[in-house]
Amino acid sequence: MSNIGNYDERYKSFNWDVAKKELEYKDGDTINIGEYCSDRICRLGKGEKTALIWQGNVGQTKKYSFNELSSLSSTIASFLNELGLKNGDRVSLFLDKVPELYIGFLGVLKMGGVAQPLFSAFGGESLHTRLEDAGTSAIITQKKHIGKVRKIINDLPELKHIILIDDDKKKPLREREIAFSMEEATPATDYKVYKTTAESPSVLHYTSGTTGKPKGAQHVHYSLISQYMTSKYVLDIKEDDIYWCTADPGWVTGTSYGIIGAWSNGVTQCVLDAGFKSESWYKFIEEQKVTIWYSAPTAIRSLMKDGKEVADKFNMSSLRHLCSVGEPLNAEAVIWSTETYGLTFHDTYWQTETGSMMICNYPGMKIKPGSMGKPVPGVETCVVDLKTYEPITKPGIVGLIAAKPGWPAMFRSYWNNKEVYDSKFKNGWYICGDRASIDEDGYYWFVGRDDDVINTGGHLVGPFEIESALLEHEAVAESAVVGKPDPVNMEVVKAFIALKPGFEASDMLDLNIMNFIRKKLSPLAMPQEIEFVDSLPKTRSGKIMRRMLRAKEWGEEIGDTSTLEDD
Ligand code: WT7
Repeated sequence: MSNIGNYDERYKSFNWDVAKKELEYKDGDTINIGEYCSDRICRLGKGEKTALIWQGNVGQTKKYSFNELSSLSSTIASFLNELGLKNGDRVSLFLDKVPELYIGFLGVLKMGGVAQPLFSAFGGESLHTRLEDAGTSAIITQKKHIGKVRKIINDLPELKHIILIDDDKKKPLREREIAFSMEEATPATDYKVYKTTAESPSVLHYTSGTTGKPKGAQHVHYSLISQYMTSKYVLDIKEDDIYWCTADPGWVTGTSYGIIGAWSNGVTQCVLDAGFKSESWYKFIEEQKVTIWYSAPTAIRSLMKDGKEVADKFNMSSLRHLCSVGEPLNAEAVIWSTETYGLTFHDTYWQTETGSMMICNYPGMKIKPGSMGKPVPGVETCVVDLKTYEPITKPGIVGLIAAKPGWPAMFRSYWNNKEVYDSKFKNGWYICGDRASIDEDGYYWFVGRDDDVINTGGHLVGPFEIESALLEHEAVAESAVVGKPDPVNMEVVKAFIALKPGFEASDMLDLNIMNFIRKKLSPLAMPQEIEFVDSLPKTRSGKIMRRMLRAKEWGEEIGDTSTLEDD
């Protein structure tokens, strides 16, 4: 039996008091995510249980119990206090997926600091923008990344402490730098967790918008209520699970569901600190006996590219539930996963700003491949009219995905940018910036980012729909579809395509693909132009940057590319 049981009944009867009760939290109490994910689990008698199974890039593994999580995170918190850091200070975690990232995140929260995880592959400029905007006081990093920090600190007077977790004493440290080893430090005994309350700032995640510099979505400790509950209902996390979230905590999935979700439920999670390779992922699942796997469409499509034969070489019978997030999960990937793993990837939709899942597929609820599912219990969503922001009640009409403010994990501001924050709310709804329609059964169907939808001859065409269809063509490995200016139709469809090995670009193939889409979807959706490319521009989290391709077509500014793969 799944945790959620019957979705419709759960949705009707649920309110957030259920989560508060389970977490023994009453309005006005102190609530500290760091404490909830470690000390509280020990108090519940699960101190000896494994909290983290970590595997490095050469196969080395480490395990930490909840007792260790509790003690080590307090040791880090206490060290930060000794440096003079205090509640409200922003402390950045600029680390690979090493244990210190996960445990340090809890440590920062325990001392009342605001955790600012930054993707360790960021270059100097991306780093600088975010540290400067947040007025960050300290950064926790590794030898291999300290060079990037050193290059920018002269411009960052507020950055007072650079904490190096793996100093080998071979080279002298510089001004503002200090070494700290989590394992070798004198353990803090009886650390007093800072008494944060519901609205105390907790996490700051930077996200790139359509325009301007990246914005820091600021979250609060109360977000735990949503993250705990959705992990239970959507990921179906249970006591004996071994949970694996493949996301990097530099991005919101990696904190909300790669740290907080499982640990606040007292469940074991594992981390693979290595790049993507189908075989290594499967081997990890086999060896660690992963039961729940939360990943992303790009990864699933990469696994698809390598084929079922690779998957069949491994024993992945431990798996029982699969979920996906981050970009549209095309129907083909859903169907392939079912055929390959005997389990279906459940799409989940949410954003950095929402802090927790919003529209999802649930265990036990019928899946319509290609649909994002239905709103999470406790969350009220709808699609609103593109101009009036009035909820659309008729099925099948495309509008903007909107959510009623009030779910616990909603962001509370953009750092230093209340104005843009306020602009996200219209007519009493938080506007997500994505277009979708809802069918007669209440299922949500993603159309595209509000700025990506193609309007051709007055008809809206979703690039996702075309990309999904293109992926079903035997020659297509990856594709991105954008609107290209056209004097008659306003926009026509242009497709950028990377071919599978063994296929050559040619006029014949061009025509063949166009016809394939015309037949499959409609003449409107048929690409008027195809450009064959070696690879598509992607964000570091693997999302195809349609925006960049579109901007080129329109001769516009490309905007912030700091999350690009090859910058
Ligand atoms: C945007 C948010 C929160 C996880 C990581 C991304 C797109 C997210 C889906 C989905 C279609 C999706 C939306 C959204 N997106 N999930 N299941 N289907 N699109 O967080 O970087 O803040 O991006 O990703 O466009 O607005 P993010």
